[in-house]
Amino acid sequence: MAGKYAARSARAIMAVLAAGVALYSLRYSGVIVDSWLDVDPKIRAVITQVPIQALMHMLVAPVALLLGPLQFFPGIRAKYPQAHRWSGRVYVAACVVAGTGGLATSLYASGGPVAGFGFGILAVLWIGTTLGAWRAAVQRQFALHRLLMRFSYAMTFGAVTLRLQIPIGLALGFPSYSAMSVWLAYTSWIPNLIVVALYSMTQALRRPAAPATA
Ligand code: HEM
Repeated sequence: MAGKYAARSARAIMAVLAAGVALYSLRYSGVIVDSWLDVDPKIRAVITQVPIQALMHMLVAPVALLLGPLQFFPGIRAKYPQAHRWSGRVYVAACVVAGTGGLATSLYASGGPVAGFGFGILAVLWIGTTLGAWRAAVQRQFALHRLLMRFSYAMTFGAVTLRLQIPIGLALGFPSYSAMSVWLAYTSWIPNLIVVALYSMTQALRRPAAPATA
């Protein structure tokens, strides 16, 4: 009972944080009409260099961030299976489009090549894991689908963990986002993957073993 309550609370917190970051990212739509309100000057320079790729990433990734948490609520999934399927398809499409944009943008990352390399690996893993999760659902391998979608969203949620880590970086003495992004390009998503791996292992251990067949 307490475990169920904790899981539900964790999902709700995840959804609220994701919605906050996704809505805040909407400011990038102003760039289309040349409004740069609250856009970091170094990120502005990246967008100016590769506007299509950067905006394809910055405006589509929030869709994945927003939709993801809804997919994990078992109640919604059971009650509205058709909505789960359609929202899942939009999630996958958003990850592929935003991941491709992110990969192209990583070559121009404001934090330089080490940051770009971290974001680049993330983009490749994000696209691959999400497509693998989708394929597993189509093939009705639901245990694998659930596992891969957990990993996919752990990477999507990197957008939130990255922004939660910025104040920590500033407190540690980094002068700006771009200066700390050499670290953030790795610390924003690797711990999320570790948490999901540990959670999935404990879930697997808790599950009763299948009866042995002769
Ligand atoms: C999971 C795979 C992701 C990859 C590979 C990725 C990659 C990148 C890259 C390379 C940049 C440019 C950073 C720089 O120049 O320093 C960037 C910035 C940005 N990304 Fe992502 N990203 C991912 C996920 C997301 C998600 C899920 C969102 C949803 C909100 C998002 C929203 C943004 C925004 C708004 C920026 C502009 C910088 C900022 O406002 O902090 N990204 N991303």
